[in-house]
Amino acid sequence: MAFKDNRDFIDALKESGDVAVVNKEVDWDLEAGAIARHASEQEGPAILFERVKDYPDGYRIFATPVGTYRRVAVALGLPADTPIKEVYEVYEKRAENPIAPRVVEGGPCKENKMLGDEVDLYHFPTPMCHDGDGGRYIGTWGFVVCKDPESDWVNWGMYRFHINSQRSLAMSPAPGSNLGALFREKFMPQNRPMPIAAVVGADPLSSIASSAGHPVGQSEVFLAGGLHQEPVELVKCETNDLMVPAHSEVIIEGEILPDVSAAEGPFGEYPGYRSPGFEARLYCRVKGVTFRNSPILTMSNLGVPPDDSHVGGCISISISLKKRLQRKGLPVLDVYQNPEGSAFMLIVRVSEGGPEVVRRIADSFGIRRAWISKIVVVDEDVDAFDMRQVIHALAVKCNPATGILVKETPPGSGNPFSPLVSVEELKTLKGSMAYFDCTWDPKRPKDELPLKSSFDSIYPEEIREKILTNWSKYGL
Ligand SMILES: Cc1cc2nc3c(=O)[nH]c(=O)nc-3n(C[C@H](O)[C@H](O)[C@H](O)COP(=O)(O)O)c2cc1C
Repeated sequence: MAFKDNRDFIDALKESGDVAVVNKEVDWDLEAGAIARHASEQEGPAILFERVKDYPDGYRIFATPVGTYRRVAVALGLPADTPIKEVYEVYEKRAENPIAPRVVEGGPCKENKMLGDEVDLYHFPTPMCHDGDGGRYIGTWGFVVCKDPESDWVNWGMYRFHINSQRSLAMSPAPGSNLGALFREKFMPQNRPMPIAAVVGADPLSSIASSAGHPVGQSEVFLAGGLHQEPVELVKCETNDLMVPAHSEVIIEGEILPDVSAAEGPFGEYPGYRSPGFEARLYCRVKGVTFRNSPILTMSNLGVPPDDSHVGGCISISISLKKRLQRKGLPVLDVYQNPEGSAFMLIVRVSEGGPEVVRRIADSFGIRRAWISKIVVVDEDVDAFDMRQVIHALAVKCNPATGILVKETPPGSGNPFSPLVSVEELKTLKGSMAYFDCTWDPKRPKDELPLKSSFDSIYPEEIREKILTNWSKYGL
């Protein structure tokens, strides 16, 4: 079953025991954020803050919606304890069958409207997530809708944005993001404002889809439909022609101005460190806001893993990279961006390894992927979703002299949020990616490879069966 909105999703999380409802009043200024951060770091439940200081009862915050794979499983309509590998399989299968959206006349997101001078972004209980953040981030698990002026292509992208003033936002799509490129190439040169709609509190699968790195020309709303297994219902904005998910909690309609910039950040970010602030990021003048009765803002309070960015935010990218490698004829079985790696790490499981395969994997990644800095390639007998097995393979099968391949990426491609860059690299934004070959040398004859000393590999089948049949009889 797919959830049209977060309200049904929250009900399902209540049933599976994956959301805590906090009735005690909390302060939007750091308290709600600190609670969400502490809960994320403990892999605790999502949190529904029912009462927020300075705001009417009913104005709520839903924190860390998909910060665990249990919650992603529930979002997909699966049992909460579905193994991660199966969650990926279901996601991949559904993503292969994209479904076009359905336009509807109205929807819950139109229950209230503030237009023109009435707009007041402080109307909502937007949290100050971390100490030192550059503003109150209303977009931490929200996405921005924009459209190519020369085609039907509509882009959804999950980019952070904070309140800049009562009627403006500061936004942070990277220059290489689809919105960033569209704005730079098709609006700025003509000095035209770019219409956008910022969506806060969409259903969980639409939000996950918005973090997918779809190529130019492909709309993420089709992926969202595929994940839901039914069309996403879209409704037209009040002040522009963009379409937004009708069951969202808050829609902020506006335009990004070509000749004004806004200071954006700092923010406690996904690498687990506070990111720098930016002097001149995108300035969005807000023209209208529509919202549901008793709106529920979403908050993902990013930081050290795991949180929504490392879990829900990593699935699409892992699966699209797997497809990309497979299309290039590489013997890739699984690709997994493990939450512990803060999206800086990728596990690639192959049916056949060796330096040539690892080199071809390295050659397949475009510079947009330079933000992933460590790629661990493991053999088929390693479960890519089990970090104990991956770390074991890295420790015992990666030859430090011959098994590490480092590739530099050109200036501008590096990750400005990366804590590991040198002073020089920070200036040029040159990046680098390291590939750890944890696979057998293909030149070694297969029958001469050391046998794994594990229960599954080193005992005859009849012994294993006997042990498993009698397991409880041993008192174990
Ligand atoms: C929680 C979260 C926050 C993100 N914030 C940003 C951001 O501020 N800027 C950005 O460029 N990408 C951000 N990303 C990554 C983008 O969502 C991702 O690169 C996506 O592919 C962008 O969409 P696009 O390919 O249509 O540009 C974020 C991802 C997640 C999961």
